[in-house]
Amino acid sequence: MRLTSECRQHYNQHEMRTHGRKNGFVTKGQEAKLTQWLPKIGMTNETTLAQTGLDLTQPIVLEVGFGNGDFLAHLAQTHLDWQMIGIEIYLPGVAKAVSKIDEVGVIERCRISQLPAQFVLNHLIPDQSLDGIFINHPDPWPKKKHFKRRIIQKDFAQLLTSRLKMGGFIKLASDIEELAIWMRDILDQTAGLQNLGTENGFIPRDEDRPHTKFETRGLNAGRRSYFLHYQKIANTPNSELLSTEAQ
Ligand SMILES: C[S@@+](CC[C@H](N)C(=O)[O-])C[C@H]1O[C@@H](n2cnc3c(N)ncnc32)[C@H](O)[C@@H]1O
Repeated sequence: MRLTSECRQHYNQHEMRTHGRKNGFVTKGQEAKLTQWLPKIGMTNETTLAQTGLDLTQPIVLEVGFGNGDFLAHLAQTHLDWQMIGIEIYLPGVAKAVSKIDEVGVIERCRISQLPAQFVLNHLIPDQSLDGIFINHPDPWPKKKHFKRRIIQKDFAQLLTSRLKMGGFIKLASDIEELAIWMRDILDQTAGLQNLGTENGFIPRDEDRPHTKFETRGLNAGRRSYFLHYQKIANTPNSELLSTEAQ
């Protein structure tokens, strides 16, 4: 079924476009989990990190664009000391993810935002507060006239870096070679980050990494994936985006 219009009206928090996606299918159970859990673990446009109820003395790791939430659930299941913040603008994906993290018993350590990552990082997450950030297979926006919609841009890279604690990491993946190079070139030039890659700036695939939906989709289409790993090695000035349209 599609998410009911009542549910969309109540929970959809933005008008941002996502690449090639419409209102996809969910099960009745997934919609029920969404309405059960979002009031408890969902972040509104006013919920700052300090107001999430997470323990700020323990690691906090962010996944941007978690899709159906399988990777987010895996991270929470395999890192018992991590508290996860997942950001995903696609509401049916949020419904699937909430169901999944509930099913595998990690929901108490997760917080979910359905707002664009640029807004969340800019307004709700303070400087030097995250231990790590994952961005897997961000939207490619392959047409040149749409490059500005790609999430990795110079100012967004500075914003990500500013929100990391010293020593924190950013890990990215893409099955689109051109986009992987785009991300590497921008992050390589971002002050405060060190590229830990060994093969033209890329790292080998982490063995314990599950395949995300889009990694699998790439493999089925005959494409390998590329992986990037950065570490924050210096503090940078507090960074601010002027608008979420900047992507
Ligand atoms: C190509 S999908 C990849 C999904 C998943 N990470 C995977 O590897 O299968 C990119 C995801 O990023 C989400 N997304 C795009 N722009 C975003 C933004 N500004 N903030 C949060 N999520 C975003 C999209 O809705 C989509 O689910």
